[in-house]
Amino acid sequence: MATIAMKVRPEDLSQLPAGKERIPEPVILVIFGASGDLTKRKLLPALFHLRQNNLLPKEFAIVGVARRPLGDEFARDMREGIVDFGDVDKSDPKLDEFVGHISYFALNFDDPSHYASLKTELDRIDKERGIGGNRLFYLATAPEFFAGIVENLGAQQMAHPEKGMAAIVIEKPFGHDLGSARELNHQVNAVFEERQVFRIDHYLGKETVQNLLVFRFANGIFEPVWNRNFIEEVQITVAETLGVEGRGPFYEKAGALRDVVQNHMMELLSLVALEPPSSFEAESVRREKLKVWQAIPPIPILNTIRGQYGPGIVGKDHVVGYRDEERVNPNSGTETFAALRLEIENWRWAGVPFFLRAGKRMKKRATEISIQFKQPPLLIFNRLATDGPCGEIQPNLLTIRIQPDEGIALRFGAKVPTSSQMSVCPVNMDFDYETAFGKSTANGYERLLLDAMLGDQTLFAHRDGVETNWALYTPILDAWKSKTPEVFPNYFAGSWGPECADHLLERSGHTWRNDLGRH
Ligand code: BG6
Repeated sequence: MATIAMKVRPEDLSQLPAGKERIPEPVILVIFGASGDLTKRKLLPALFHLRQNNLLPKEFAIVGVARRPLGDEFARDMREGIVDFGDVDKSDPKLDEFVGHISYFALNFDDPSHYASLKTELDRIDKERGIGGNRLFYLATAPEFFAGIVENLGAQQMAHPEKGMAAIVIEKPFGHDLGSARELNHQVNAVFEERQVFRIDHYLGKETVQNLLVFRFANGIFEPVWNRNFIEEVQITVAETLGVEGRGPFYEKAGALRDVVQNHMMELLSLVALEPPSSFEAESVRREKLKVWQAIPPIPILNTIRGQYGPGIVGKDHVVGYRDEERVNPNSGTETFAALRLEIENWRWAGVPFFLRAGKRMKKRATEISIQFKQPPLLIFNRLATDGPCGEIQPNLLTIRIQPDEGIALRFGAKVPTSSQMSVCPVNMDFDYETAFGKSTANGYERLLLDAMLGDQTLFAHRDGVETNWALYTPILDAWKSKTPEVFPNYFAGSWGPECADHLLERSGHTWRNDLGRH
């Protein structure tokens, strides 16, 4: 397919005046579960990128908290993480200065007396650095520790300090079903008010995800056609080539529906479907998202598909099936693929099917949203086109590539030059982030950490949204649990998932788009 690339010239960008950046107040960031992968791979590189861009306050401290006695080794390990995962030159002069802000505190999550010592240590650092009392607690531990940590912070008055502000960031999973999510929200809100709670969904930190709002609401031409009168169907795919990467025990309990669909994909769906918020502020955006989720009727089990990968070839590599992954039950019934059809029953979307699918060990890594428009009412060129090189005229398709090759493409029909017939072929108008704005090293956490420090909840999940989504998915999880899948594994690693997922769409005359990625 031919492609027309749209470029912003780099010289245009360099002439833009620097925007007025928001810089947070001095703060101590306390990361619980800091010895885990997330801190090293994502959080610290993101914090360093913020430092490089002068977006951190002058006075700040990062305190890693975990059970192991690590001491100075922790800061050294984080330095390595920043270099390896943050695309940072190891001789960057800002690196040593930044690492000087990192310290470690060993703590047993269940021991209340340790929290008293933690408080003393934070007060000491605060005084030394002139922080002024602000604390941001980040829960990056296994979820079973969330409630205990929150309770202990509350017991030591760390949730409502006399001086400064306190807030808490929670990594998913926010519960594993509706009941547990409610319980967790209750435990958290017993100590922290909702305005102090930042539930992270790292998808909302991705540039392209945020750009969805800009695309829809900063441009006048798309909104008039963004509805059931013009849109035929919406597909959202989160396809990963990776398997479970040593996280067998976690994934066994999670599965694709809990791990990716119920949270990341529902966030994407809400941004595609929401009504224009009255402002780009937390309350307004979160209210519109909630309205979308609330308008989704229960999803019939018949409209859900689950899959599990067997052995296969991904890229050039032979890989084992899910049941042969490390620390996975050899008879596991956990799904590594989930697909479903849902509807949004409101004036804008009634009758438009939304197809969602997520899978591990798929043919290609691609997270994409594709919006297929209706055909024109009369296809005057169709007969001629059918005889031409590209066959039948294809409907307009807008694809939003979340990753990789972040960008947006619009497919339309164009006349094939020099042809004596009116032959029509599909071509793409393609906006590519990297071509337009240069390569970004950001991992999504930069924006979210910065917003949490600034107290801006716009890009964070609210308890009502989390519970509404669990209410939608818990019956599916229950139904799946009550019936062991007989045909697992049912797709080869390196394929586009089980055949039954194709049938789900074929039933209503649709097909999955498998030509994902940039063309
Ligand atoms: C995480 C899931 O939340 O998202 C992982 O636990 C998944 O299983 C990951 O691989 C996908 O995130 P990304 O940013 O790589 O698309």
